[in-house]
Amino acid sequence: MQADDAHLQTALDRVRSAPDLEALRALERESRVLVDEGFAAARQSPPERRKEAFQSVQRAKEAIEAAIRARKDEFEAAALESERSGAGFDPTLPAPKPRRGSLHPITQVTRELEDLFTSMGWRVLDGPEVELERYNFDALNISRDHPARDTMDTFRCDPEGKLVLRTHTSPVQVRAMERLKPPFRAIVPGKVFRNETVDASHEHTFHQMEGLCIDRGVSVGHLIGTMKTLLRGVFGRDIEVRLRPGYFPFVEPGFELDARCPFCKEGCSVCKQSTWIELLPCGMVHPNVLAAGGIDAEEWTGFAFGLGLSRLTMLRYEIDDVRLLLSGDPRFLEQFA
Ligand code: PHE
Repeated sequence: MQADDAHLQTALDRVRSAPDLEALRALERESRVLVDEGFAAARQSPPERRKEAFQSVQRAKEAIEAAIRARKDEFEAAALESERSGAGFDPTLPAPKPRRGSLHPITQVTRELEDLFTSMGWRVLDGPEVELERYNFDALNISRDHPARDTMDTFRCDPEGKLVLRTHTSPVQVRAMERLKPPFRAIVPGKVFRNETVDASHEHTFHQMEGLCIDRGVSVGHLIGTMKTLLRGVFGRDIEVRLRPGYFPFVEPGFELDARCPFCKEGCSVCKQSTWIELLPCGMVHPNVLAAGGIDAEEWTGFAFGLGLSRLTMLRYEIDDVRLLLSGDPRFLEQFA
């Protein structure tokens, strides 16, 4: 190949119109062979023309190299431009999938119970977690010297002790009575707080679900029936219950409701070999509480219960350490996805 060669013109044209980088690389290889051949031919030429022949091939070589470099630059500039303009980005491709979380086991149990109770005409209520001492204690007939008021048990939010972190969901009983006209039925799932020494079965923050039914002529029979329905919903079959007397200032009479252990017949570690599980405290709403909520105790009656949602969730999924529930540990939470 020589600088004035028609071959050179063709080679330059092909380089300038190379469609892509791959074609250009092929041309580059091809032209190196041609240049080598050109130098070989120059070596063979008569001595008087040899110098000129070498110079001609050298010029051809440089011309081709420059053309290749220029074409490469064009490709690079085009690639950069297309990246900048977003061309080559296919908006119809599926997006990368976000990692999916799941509902906390307590939320799952709460939602199931909400479905169950709303299907029976109950409503779901909410209340403040920072509560007035009046609602948390006084309106619930809890006397000034009741041990629950002990500073050991209750987190207080101000020096006068008028604001507390609610120690139970029961204050929403009175808030509901103030807001709603009887008859009504409501559940109140939510967080409660107690100044506990934390261990496998005690947490300072845990979940309860209050239940309150106010109507005419409400009896303990209604309470038991409702609790049996709740258990059927949670465990998927009929479960025997029993009532023992229990004392809570805001119910009279007050009970502890036990359920037959859903896991065994003869006794196991869950029921501590007794075949009964202490499920929830409950009772008939005390007339003083009805009065505090502005409801005429001559006309209206009611029952209330305080379900330990954390405890029920633990029973349901056989979780043996309450601290896992609020640990936020993904290894624990992933199991409920
Ligand atoms: N609020 C009580 C507690 O947390 C439970 C309870 C609720 C008892 C409703 C009776 C009726 O211990």
